[in-house]
Amino acid sequence: MKNITITKTKHSTLSELDFDNIPLGKIFTDHMFICDYENGTWNNPRIIPMQTIASHPATMALHYGQAIFEGMKATLDSTGTPLLFRPNKNAARLNFSADRMGMPSFPEDLFSEGLKQLVDLDKEWIPKKKGSAMYLRPFMYADEHFIGMRAATSYKFIIICSPAGPYFSERIKLFAEKKYIRAATGGTGEAKAAGNYAAAIKPTENAKAKGYNQVLWLDAVEHKYIQEVGTMNIFFKISGKIITPFRDGNILDGITRMSVIDLLKHKGFEVEERPISIDEVKEASENGTLEEAFGTGTAIGIAYIQEIGTDEGTIHVSDESPVGEDVNNTLNGIKIGEIEDSFGWMVPVS
Ligand code: COI
Repeated sequence: MKNITITKTKHSTLSELDFDNIPLGKIFTDHMFICDYENGTWNNPRIIPMQTIASHPATMALHYGQAIFEGMKATLDSTGTPLLFRPNKNAARLNFSADRMGMPSFPEDLFSEGLKQLVDLDKEWIPKKKGSAMYLRPFMYADEHFIGMRAATSYKFIIICSPAGPYFSERIKLFAEKKYIRAATGGTGEAKAAGNYAAAIKPTENAKAKGYNQVLWLDAVEHKYIQEVGTMNIFFKISGKIITPFRDGNILDGITRMSVIDLLKHKGFEVEERPISIDEVKEASENGTLEEAFGTGTAIGIAYIQEIGTDEGTIHVSDESPVGEDVNNTLNGIKIGEIEDSFGWMVPVS
């Protein structure tokens, strides 16, 4: 593995951070990890002061969208050691996305080492308050200057960090979108590609204008089978069983999703990964068997769903999510070392 060079900032902005009031996604730490891909190899892995990067107007990512990203969080245990949650899963998923988008893979050992060294250097930025964390954003984009439709020959891989305050989860409202789609079989739905989010912005803004928090995506063919939510995977509890859409190539392989499935099974729940239609959820709501629904994702954690709006009317979920809350508490406890990490998910940074 290539050696990572470190240039420390001379002007830390840490003292400007109000840990009691952290605006989401707007504050960035003192340093970033960056590595360049040229001539078929990744070169010059380095940690440098946080800075802007000048872009040539023909930078290919801006035109053809070869851009992918990951979302992770670093937390602190009671001794102040930073912990990463399943970082190897993010490294693997980044390379899955890279492959789908015709981009080079990034060495997983360098991903892990760059992340650890960066988090260690900026660990004073990790908020200590319960429910807080430092959000980590690894991403890769095509930075070759070229007009023409082909895979780029140069890329950048970067990791930036952003402290995040506790997420007080209010129950959320979803709108089941039937006009626009997120993903179709053979497309890029399973990749964490920037373009998937770009295509979701207009429908999300439409949903917000109607009073909803996020879009519930349905399949591209029948507009019937549930895929995922704007920034989350989704779970339903119907007649005691937990149901989540199966991975048919159109949904994100969520790391919170896979962990929640493991936790639920460990807690003795029957978990079904299978196609689930919006009609099944509506029917369960009407006959009183829809017990709860929640979304799972890195940024949000677990979000309890209150209702789902459809063109035909509202599907009422429930005012309580005891299973979602239990899993959320367990996951949060594991992330700060308060609950035993019997799955071996946490990776200390030391
Ligand atoms: C995450 O949950 O980490 C994500 O990547 C979603 C993002 C669009 C905020």
